[in-house]
Amino acid sequence: MNAISIGGMFRTGLTLVIVILLPLLYIIKVKLEDSVESQTAFISEAGDLVPRHRQNHGQPHQDPLAKDNHCHPMAEKIIFLKTHKTASSTVQNVLLRWGQKNKKTFALPKSGKSIFSYWKSFKVSDVHGYCESCPKPDIIAHHLRYSPDVEKLFAMDEPVYHLSIIRNPTSMFESVFNYMKGVAPQFKTAGTLEKFLDDPHKYIKHSKQMTSFFSRNHLTYEFGFDPMEEEPKKIAENLKLISQKWNLIMITEHMAESLAVLKHDLCLSIEDIACFITNARPKKTELSKKTQEKLLEWNQADARLYDHFNRTLWRRISHIGEEKIAHDVEKMHTLIDQLTEKCVDGYLPNSQLHPDFRTYQPPGLIVKGIQLTEEGFKDPLCYQMAMSELPWTRELMKAQGIPTNKLDKY
Ligand SMILES: *[C@@H]1O[C@H](CO)[C@@H](O)[C@H](O)[C@H]1NC(C)=O
Repeated sequence: MNAISIGGMFRTGLTLVIVILLPLLYIIKVKLEDSVESQTAFISEAGDLVPRHRQNHGQPHQDPLAKDNHCHPMAEKIIFLKTHKTASSTVQNVLLRWGQKNKKTFALPKSGKSIFSYWKSFKVSDVHGYCESCPKPDIIAHHLRYSPDVEKLFAMDEPVYHLSIIRNPTSMFESVFNYMKGVAPQFKTAGTLEKFLDDPHKYIKHSKQMTSFFSRNHLTYEFGFDPMEEEPKKIAENLKLISQKWNLIMITEHMAESLAVLKHDLCLSIEDIACFITNARPKKTELSKKTQEKLLEWNQADARLYDHFNRTLWRRISHIGEEKIAHDVEKMHTLIDQLTEKCVDGYLPNSQLHPDFRTYQPPGLIVKGIQLTEEGFKDPLCYQMAMSELPWTRELMKAQGIPTNKLDKY
């Protein structure tokens, strides 16, 4: 055997390694990553996370460069509990865009409005066109008070991602009080937050059905539990039930990280989670230490809920990887900055805005919405990001053949 043929054999061997072995190694690596990913995806404080389904094995996304080819969403159906005064509209906007992009069907209110009767427990009969044998929706994302009836909308054997968002009860209650004091008699009668907290039981007697749940622990109420519950043991039991059901409860104060976790769970792109923050009040009142203490005491159940799920969020972040989340947060902020620069002209009161960008404004308050630049008007992503709930709902209703004549007027 001469040197040349040894060299030839060597080259043939090398070619074999490259052609056969490397792809094999790659496949093994991918499988390994896959199983690690699937384990982490299923580590949740919830304990009984929904089973995975519809894995698209061997079916990469159409654009291989677009995102992680091996990402499997935890579920393809979503229950979003849109809570009040938590920046939930921002998350809702992400979900509406997700739904439209992926041609999902929304469960929408039979009333023809953009809300379910959130002051009462949800019933399946509140959904437009609901019947047991009718096609199932993919997502429900409008204001409602959670009840087990929500689950009946979806097939028994199909995993449903349970998502919500909560906020620090102290700043939230202050915000609720000022937002609602024009319309909620219990707050209107008290006049100031301090007076209300001096004797809340006296004022809540004045409550009316639609707004009474704002009086105390309104998040606990929206999750379907008794907001007047004071017994620590019972509050802890309720918390346990909530944590068993909900896959992700976002934290308003950590919105960016929460969105990054959502991206991870549902295999979204940075573009999917980018959002403009609207509905924010320009200036906030400083609360005295005493008022803060009273607020926490009065809203003990929500305070426990908040602490629990803030811890849960950060545990999930560390399971997914702090660096990965930080990286996504940074990419998201960069994109939002670019889009804001290009598309947002400013923030204006409703009266000066195109109807598509006006938000609900309770009596006596001025809420600002987004004024797009000329370029922003022409950019579909910017337009959808700036569009408020009502025009969005109108679009969805039209797409699903539901009459829009009862939709609230501005
Ligand atoms: C949430 O928990 C994290 C981690 O323990 C903590 O750093 C952060 O301050 C908490 N956030 C709020 C708003 O309480």
